[in-house]
Amino acid sequence: MTDAALVRRRFLAGTTIDDLKAYMEPFADRLGYKFNTETEFVDEVLASEIEILELTGDVYCPCRVRTGDPKEDAKIVCPCIPFFRDQFAGLSKCWCGLFILKSIDDGGELLGVIDEPKDPVDVPVFRLDDLPPGQIRHVKVGRRDIAVARVGDEFFALANVCRHAFAPLAEGFMDGYTVMCPWHGWRYDVRDGTTDHPDADVRTFPVSVVEGEVFVTLSPRG
Ligand code: SF4
Ligand code: FES
Repeated sequence: MTDAALVRRRFLAGTTIDDLKAYMEPFADRLGYKFNTETEFVDEVLASEIEILELTGDVYCPCRVRTGDPKEDAKIVCPCIPFFRDQFAGLSKCWCGLFILKSIDDGGELLGVIDEPKDPVDVPVFRLDDLPPGQIRHVKVGRRDIAVARVGDEFFALANVCRHAFAPLAEGFMDGYTVMCPWHGWRYDVRDGTTDHPDADVRTFPVSVVEGEVFVTLSPRG
């Protein structure tokens, strides 16, 4: 079966969770995926998709941000597996955890969780315009809290935890390439996570921007 046979179906208002399941299950199956084994979670995600359908006219992903550009947003209509096959293969799941690889017996650990992927994976976090230059914001990537900073048109990502007393760095103050902790003023270089306090550097993550979307790359810890 080729991807050409995977024709996307449009849904109308009044669609039920069972309607979505009946369409999505064989679609995902042909791509090597199945619904998460956590059925309550599956129903919650599909209920969110139905709410989005009623509001927008299509079943856009509940864990992704729509851009307003119909061509771009077509890539996050559920199931979006064909557009993100490499990334999902590295995670064993789709971004939301609604779908998991058929080989996974227990999807309980994969509910919306992106943690220690086997291979590096680029995780979309927000649209380029969502973070003005000179600002820093918190993003949750799976269970991990990350601060993404923007300096001009450059983006940097670092662990969102100050090593002094665990303040959230994303609530700190940007000064050039430095973020100042909001609690007691320790300063970290957002480019490499270094600080002038001994043994207190924080982990950093590669960031890329592709077609207006900002991605943080997660890798297995070395
Ligand atoms: S990430 Fe999962 S839930 Fe979201 S659109 Fe893709 S397949 Fe659907
Ligand atoms: S918690 Fe960051 S400087 Fe104290």
